[in-house]
This record gives sequence, C-alpha cells and structure tokens, in this order.
Amino acid sequence: MTAVPAQESHAARLREVLPEHSGVTEAGELTIGGVEVSALVEQYGTPLHVFDEIGLREQARRFVRGLRERWPNSDVLFASKSLPAVGMYKIAQEEGLAVDVAGAGELHLALAAGVDPARIYFHGNAKTTAELAFALERGVGTIIVDNTDELDRLDALLTAPQALLLRVIPGVEAETHASQATGGTRSKFGLPMDQALAAIERMRAHPLMRFEGVHLHIGSQILNTAQFAEAVEKISSAGHFPTYDIGGGLGVKYTHADDAPSVEAYLDEIVAAAKAHLPEGSRLLIEPGRSLVARAGVSAYRVVSVKRTGQVFVAVDGGMADQLDVALTLQRYEAVIANRAAEPAAEAVQLVGRQCESGDLLIDGADLPEARVGDVVVMATTGAYSYTTSNNYNGALKPAIVFVADGEARLVTRRETYADLLATHAPALEGGTATD
Ligand SMILES: Cc1ncc(COP(=O)(O)O)c(C=O)c1O
Repeated sequence: MTAVPAQESHAARLREVLPEHSGVTEAGELTIGGVEVSALVEQYGTPLHVFDEIGLREQARRFVRGLRERWPNSDVLFASKSLPAVGMYKIAQEEGLAVDVAGAGELHLALAAGVDPARIYFHGNAKTTAELAFALERGVGTIIVDNTDELDRLDALLTAPQALLLRVIPGVEAETHASQATGGTRSKFGLPMDQALAAIERMRAHPLMRFEGVHLHIGSQILNTAQFAEAVEKISSAGHFPTYDIGGGLGVKYTHADDAPSVEAYLDEIVAAAKAHLPEGSRLLIEPGRSLVARAGVSAYRVVSVKRTGQVFVAVDGGMADQLDVALTLQRYEAVIANRAAEPAAEAVQLVGRQCESGDLLIDGADLPEARVGDVVVMATTGAYSYTTSNNYNGALKPAIVFVADGEARLVTRRETYADLLATHAPALEGGTATD
C-alpha cells in the first residue's frame, strides 16, 4: 500500500473542515463514516451530498446538552432551512431538538418526518392565510409572528388558544455577508421595538392569542460571538416575558485558515449575557442551522474536464445548480480529490461548475493535486444550505443525499429524475391538462 507522502497531504491539511468521522485509507481514499467516498459515488452517482451521521448527532448533542447544562429552561430548535431533508428532521427529533420551519413546504417535510407538531415553531415574514390555516389545523406549537397583517390573519383564523412569539428587530448589524445579515435596522424581518410593543399589547388583549415572548435572529455565519451577547441585551429591552428566542447564526470554519468559535464558546457567551439581562427562570431558545449541519456534510463531484488556458480549470459535473450558496454569499470553501486524498497539493486551480454562468465558480484557487478526468472531487463543509438552494438551472437534477455511519451508507433523499423534471410541465405536453 502507498505510504502517505512525507509532505502533508492536501486532505490532512483540511482535517478540521472535513467531517469529524472522516479519514484516509492507506490507498489514499477519503472515507466518511467508514465508507470510501469513491464507493459512494459509484453507487449513488454525482453530484452527491454525503453526511457523517454520527458527526451530525454528536453536534446536535453538543448544542442540546451544552445549553441545558448552562440554562436548564431551554430548547434548541433545528433551523430546518439549513438542511430540509426528511432524514435530517428525523435525526433532529430523535436527538431532542425542536424544529423551526419557514413556510408550509418545510412544515410538510417536518410533519412527514414525524416531528411532534407541538415542537414546531413556524417562521416567515410573509406567511399566507392558507399557510397559517394549515399550521393551526396541524397543531403547530408556536407561531413566530412577523407583522401586524399576520395578526389580522390570525385574528380571523383562531378558534382555540395559540402560543405566539413576536419577531423584533434588535438593530444589531451582523458582521457577515450583507445577504446574511437580518437584524439591522433596515431588516425586512420583524418589527422595530416601538411597533413591537404595540403588537404585544394587541396580542395580550386577544382572548385566543397566547403571547409568550420575543424572537430575534441577527444573521448567519457570524464568527464574533460578542454580537450574540449584544443581541441578548437588546432583546431584554423589549420587556419581561416567559420566553426569549435568540435565533441562530453561529458561523463555522470553512477554510483551513478560518477561525470559528466552538459551540461551547458560543453557549458560554449567550448564557453569560442571558444571566446578565434576561429574567431568571425564563425560557431560552436558540435556532442553530449552519453550525449544526455544515461540517458533517460534503458534496462529491466527478471531474469532467481539465483545461489549461493560462489558468487551470477543473470542471465538475455539478455547480451553482447544487451549490448556489457560493454565488449568493461568496463563501470560500476547500476541496479534496477523494480518490487521491493522500497526495500533497500541486497547484491552485479554478474549480468550476457546469452551469452557463462565469459566476459558476465553486472555488477560486483550490489547492489540489493535478486533477484528472474521472477524479472524485469533494467540496468540504457543504452540509448547510447547499441542498436547500439546489435548483434546476440548465435542467440540472437536484442531487441525492446519503447518510453514512459505522461503515454503512443509507440513501435518505433520492436524486431527482428527468421524469420529475418533466412532471410539472405536463400541462404543456401531449395529453396534459392545465390542471394536472
Ligand atoms: C429565523 C432564523 N432562525 C435561524 C436561522 C439559522 O441560521 P444559521 O443557519 O446561521 O444558524 C435562520 C437562517 O437564516 C433564520 O432565518
């Protein structure tokens, strides 16, 4: 068997951004959950999202136990927009997390996964009457109200007491990409403090609105934990309530050079702020998404072409159709050649996708061994928001999701098929009708 070269391999350099339960065999194959990624792509095809299931569960426990130890009256909500897959909703429920959904689609997925409706929190800045009616009919535990039009809708719909939280704008400008900041004064989410106080009065006066407290979410991929402490202080100014939900947003390490706070450091910071500013004994909720699922997931592709035109373009069989978050947030990622993981990096390449956009650049300057057609390229830390934002650009099919643990792989979400792609166009096809 080949010995790992004395020079550090490109995969070893990325140890901290690859899934916790990953490794490299003597033959230089990257493994996740004890299974070679090359074998997974043989079986399930590419592009493929692969998750280290034990890593997912361990991270969930770090949040649940860590928060409970520090603030017993608490709950961790899985922000399901980060990985809206039925397999993941099931894990969240099994690991004792509640679930937050934003919209009827995520609510359908959560209910199908068997999540207890009482443990579901329903978000959204533009919930329709139909969505609210569906949530009420299915017994969703808590609705997180965004605005007064939503209160009008609830007023018309409610026939039984309903627990509500109100989303407020804390005025915290999160240090992150502009598209990921949601708590600044110009945010489209929630109400500014003065309007929030009026909305709270209205809920309190209503016979069926059970107002329980306030919610905020300052943004995503936030690496400075002091910003969460600031948010806790700001939310305390709304008043004394039974519940405070301080949202998600903890950032993760995407590149070997990034420095991201641990779950423990984050919890220490928010609980210290809660002890300083929130009423003793109140209920504290957090909603991690990215930090719960990002590291456990990778995306695997096949190299389709290697072109040397002054720059080295390594083109793979996926792209912004399954990895849109790169273009939305300009997040920098790292990659590994899974079938040659023990080799050192040889050059910095443009890792590009196959969609018809120059912006379909997965990694600008990925350090890789000299790539060859047919190699399996794995992008690390893609567990959050990649599947979420997958789309059909250029007729791409949404990828499959595989969970791997203890040497066993299981398909939790199948790849879309061309039949799926055509199905919604049935009205335009022979024999289809406008109402199909
Ligand atoms: C209301 C709310 N809660 C939680 C989250 C999860 O954030 P993150 O994935 O950064 O933890 C989001 C993400 O946008 C959100 O909008």
